Amino acid sequence: MHAKPNAPTRVRQAALLGALLGLVGAQNLSAQSQHVSTIDAAGLYRDACSPCHGRLGDGQGPGARLLGEAQPRDFTVGVFKFRTTPTGSLPADEDIFRTISRGVPGTWMPEWEEMLTEDQRWALVRYIKGFSDFFADEEPDPPVSIPREREVSAELVSEGRLVYVALRCAQCHGPLGRGDGPSADELTDDWDRKIHPYDFTRGGYKAGSAPSDIYRTLVTGLSGTPMPAFERDIVLFPGGPDIDVAQMSEGLDPGTVDDLRTFLADQPTRAQVAAMSNADAQSLAEDRLWALVHYVRSLDRPRGLLFRLFGEKPELSTGRSNR
Ligand code: HEC
Ligand code: HEC
Repeated sequence: MHAKPNAPTRVRQAALLGALLGLVGAQNLSAQSQHVSTIDAAGLYRDACSPCHGRLGDGQGPGARLLGEAQPRDFTVGVFKFRTTPTGSLPADEDIFRTISRGVPGTWMPEWEEMLTEDQRWALVRYIKGFSDFFADEEPDPPVSIPREREVSAELVSEGRLVYVALRCAQCHGPLGRGDGPSADELTDDWDRKIHPYDFTRGGYKAGSAPSDIYRTLVTGLSGTPMPAFERDIVLFPGGPDIDVAQMSEGLDPGTVDDLRTFLADQPTRAQVAAMSNADAQSLAEDRLWALVHYVRSLDRPRGLLFRLFGEKPELSTGRSNR
């Protein structure tokens, strides 16, 4: 539905990158010294990153305007999408390192793992943090914990579909997860740029497509974008008589509304949720989140096909984003 005329295939990415790096007169990157103490982080940043992220780290490099919807991050405001830390927190150093190493699938952000040494990537983590005062003034919160994965089953996936409806994911991501909900064309990011919700049938999540990656995305949200953090209190929606199914079921087909009614009738009421022990409430929230994760993953068409043909073979699913 949202055609991307300049979608970044790896070949195009390499070509663009070559052109950009040529533009700033980059030296052979791998010729740089391998030792931390002698790494010229500023030079490395200038050569490899500034064509997109800008000399000042503000995301305004000369290549930025060529890139389409997913624009290079502005590092000056301390807002990072891909974190293990809760919403509102700075990222951990490891988060920035992971993003630099793996790149951001489906966007022009390259995967640097094979182009830069580990020490060079760590030097860049420190360098990038220098663009924002927030890192000098604040500490990142501790990472969120990802509980042990619930095993995928048909039951869990169909429960996930109803949690998806109850939590209004469809408002943005669409009733069938195709990224075409009623709000889809009206969303903007923190930099006032248009942004579209993810189409779950496309494959290749930005923040990783393993179940634990998606779980983390749901709990932490993607800061700087309209994708909210689904923290425990939100996930613990009440069922029984406390919920207005009619209000929730706008635009849904009658079959789904019936399923939703049955599902919600079975869920604990507001008073029951309030009376739960901490452990029980946590476990209910976790069950719902894993159901959601597996529902969302079940919509991934490329994976869905492999799944049907060969059974669960995660290494075949979506390639590099799945590590
Ligand atoms: C060809 C353009 C391009 C180059 C070169 C590039 N980036 Fe990026 N980078 C991007 C884009 C585009 C995004 C945003 C992806 C998104 O938000 O979906 C991004 C995002 C990032 C993020 C994500 C932060 C977050 O969690 O929100 C980090 C960190 C990053 N880049 C670091 C680097 C570093 C370090 C270099 C140099 C080694 C570099 N980038 C080179 C295009 C580029
Ligand atoms: C207010 C709109 C909105 C709502 C509500 C919303 N999302 Fe999103 N979501 C987004 C946007 C926008 C993006 C794309 C962010 C980007 O590309 O940087 C996104 C991205 C995602 C991603 C992809 C992350 C990745 O790694 O690429 C997942 C998974 C996701 N949403 C799941 C959900 C689920 C499940 C729900 C409901 C519990 C939900 N979202 C509710 C707007 C929303």
